[in-house]
Amino acid sequence: ALVTVAELLTKAYREGYAVGAFNCNNMEIVQAIVAAAEAENSPVIIQASQGAIKYAGIDYIAALSHQAAKNAKVPVALHLDHGTSLEQVMACIRHGFTSVMIDGSKYPFDENVAITKKVVELAHAVGVSVEAELGKIGGTEDDISVDEREAFFTDPEEAREFVARTGVDSLAVAIGTAHGRYKGVPKLDFERLAKIRELVHIPLVLHGSSGVPDEDIKKAISLGVAKVNIDTNIREAFVGKMREVLEKNPDEIDPRKILGPAREAAIEIIREKIRVFGSSNKA
Ligand code: G3H
Ligand code: 13P
Ligand code: ZN
Repeated sequence: ALVTVAELLTKAYREGYAVGAFNCNNMEIVQAIVAAAEAENSPVIIQASQGAIKYAGIDYIAALSHQAAKNAKVPVALHLDHGTSLEQVMACIRHGFTSVMIDGSKYPFDENVAITKKVVELAHAVGVSVEAELGKIGGTEDDISVDEREAFFTDPEEAREFVARTGVDSLAVAIGTAHGRYKGVPKLDFERLAKIRELVHIPLVLHGSSGVPDEDIKKAISLGVAKVNIDTNIREAFVGKMREVLEKNPDEIDPRKILGPAREAAIEIIREKIRVFGSSNKA
């Protein structure tokens, strides 16, 4: 059965490793996430983005994930990524998600506090854990300068107040990462992360982690990050393999001959990430 993210993160935070949260959008990726975790004997989080929900539907993602978790030899959690509203959070909870993110980062501070607090009240009442975002993480394709991006970094003092007022279980922080493919190498603000860690005593979450050098991920984990989100690197591996198969066999019409190898490639990259996060053999 699916476990909560809070239970996975509490242990990870205490023991100094991170649990990988991998984005899924179809059956093959759900299967790859759980197969990789089993191969590494690691806990794992399957997460569904807004795009995944739009593409596959909450019901399909929930059914696929429950099926994958049912016989898994490792703890598996199902998490809503960047949840947009109370309604969406409730729909996910109704479908058996064990954790939700409410992303109020686009709102002013007090409104972010208010919506997050509401979600925490309702989710906690039914044993579901909650992640929130303070500061703005954004995308690598956003047309903004380095200075403009820094203006959206998480303020440590605000983070302290935010966590105290909302009772949230984990906090996504903006410290220099972004969603998608980086043009160069991202530069993380570790001083800021250390400050946040000093003032906030709950697991922190690193978004936009695809393409962040392994050493930086490890350093972030040593500074309180206990959940690391990966999507883009899975897409690259999955679609890269599909492309390779199709280039070799342009006449292939059996989807299984294309998606099967893609699933294997996804398993490989997810296993590599799990090893970097230090969660192998922590199941
Ligand atoms: O939330 C960030 C994901 O990496 C991408 O989301 O599936 O909505 O494009 P998407
Ligand atoms: P990447 O696609 O950059 O790995 O980001 C994933 C993420 O943060 C999902 O919330
Ligand atoms: Zn994200």
